[in-house]
Amino acid sequence: MTQHFQSISVFTKDPYKKILAFPTPKNSEIKKRIIELKKLGVSHVSFTGPLQIGKCQILGKGYVGMVVLAKQNRNLVALKIRRIDSPRKNMLNEAKLLKIANKIGVGPRFIENSKNFLVMEFIDGEKIIDWVRKSEIKSKDLRSVINNVLRECFLLDNVGLDHGELSTIDKHVIVQKNKNTIIDFESSSINRKPSNVSGATQAIFIGTGLAKIVQKKVKLPTKRKIINLIRKYKKNPTLENFEKITFGLKLQKKGKFVKEVSILSKDKKLGHLVKKIGPCTMRITKNPYQTLVEAIIYQQLSEASATAITKRFLEIYGKFPTPKQVFDTSNKKLKDTGISSTKINYIKGLSEQILQNKINFRKISKLDDEEIISELTKIKGIGNWTAQIFLMFCLQRKDVLPVDDLGIKKGIRDLFSLKELPTTKTVEKFSDGWRPNRSIACWYMWKNQRINSIG
Ligand SMILES: Nc1ncnc2c1ncn2[C@@H]1O[C@H](COP(=O)(O)OP(=O)(O)O)[C@@H](O)[C@H]1O
Ligand SMILES: [Mg+2]
Repeated sequence: MTQHFQSISVFTKDPYKKILAFPTPKNSEIKKRIIELKKLGVSHVSFTGPLQIGKCQILGKGYVGMVVLAKQNRNLVALKIRRIDSPRKNMLNEAKLLKIANKIGVGPRFIENSKNFLVMEFIDGEKIIDWVRKSEIKSKDLRSVINNVLRECFLLDNVGLDHGELSTIDKHVIVQKNKNTIIDFESSSINRKPSNVSGATQAIFIGTGLAKIVQKKVKLPTKRKIINLIRKYKKNPTLENFEKITFGLKLQKKGKFVKEVSILSKDKKLGHLVKKIGPCTMRITKNPYQTLVEAIIYQQLSEASATAITKRFLEIYGKFPTPKQVFDTSNKKLKDTGISSTKINYIKGLSEQILQNKINFRKISKLDDEEIISELTKIKGIGNWTAQIFLMFCLQRKDVLPVDDLGIKKGIRDLFSLKELPTTKTVEKFSDGWRPNRSIACWYMWKNQRINSIG
């Protein structure tokens, strides 16, 4: 999408006028609205997007608003402009409801509003109905998107916010690369019984439009079975009954640590993350050598670079190498994968010690968490973090807390709405209630940020 920004004064001219005060722009109204925009700090607008109105391209149009790409204080935002003929008198109520949705991580992020405008996060993607029509969309992707949408619906049901327009879900979910977003809280309410999961499930699987395409792309149980699942959930909207829908529709597989996850799902802070993400699909690496090497590669790197490096490392060998294979590989070849010289030394040192039988993983695995950390950190290149990753992802120890992990610090910061990254002490304090399942709690925080490095 090409973005060409113009000052908001273009709104005084044709054909742009009509977007600012649809459908019948009067000069006095245009003037008032431009002042209102300036107060909001909205300075520029770009006429780009999938929808053409007269000679203007915009992001979208509904009964209440026209949505355009704009700049507010230099940031890219979506600007929803109240239509003159809108049934709503102002944008206050929509703003209030969007804020409630945001509290549980749903909807585009609310930024600011005024009488006629709502400034929110710009969701750069396509409407689910356009996305799903593309031939390259595989059933696996489709399942994962639908699963995410329904999970957000479940969260909305849980806080008592009824979206109100999920029966026309085609237009109200935007699919992006790594996530999807439910939009438009204009018709939402906290005063009626929420029917997000039931409405969306029907619209996705049973209705017309989207459902017709979904039915072609994924194998589904009979209509009767789907309706039964919805009914059961409607009667008693618990997490268990919700998962019966997701499992019944084969949107996801059952996860690990079911009992522990159920306990964490009741936690005041972590609960909504658990509900949103669903079953714990932590990937366990049984091979201790592999866990340690991967963890060393991941140290201090972002997920993207670590994944790319690990992939190139694997390409040298085809499958995960033995310590001997790694030890015999030239430093140059390893360096070409992007692994730093320091880490190559660590990995080779580790490989050598294993080859010389100086490390006995079987014996180590029988020790308790603290003893294992103190054993492993004797090895050069293995610090607390790497040893803790080993405990979690190789030995499946359930109560590990990598206090210095950046992702965990960010996770705690966001869950407890802290202004800054927490100190080690604060991380320990706030996660105390998750004992004895802190490894699983950590997995949810990582997963939530998609920086789930190893598992
Ligand atoms: N935050 C956003 N980012 C990108 N596009 C958006 C955003 N919000 C809305 N849109 C687009 O604008 C259209 C109309 O917005 P919507 O909120 O549904 O308006 P209405 O309340 O009038 O129905 C949507 O279908 C979508 O295509
Ligand atoms: Mg709408």
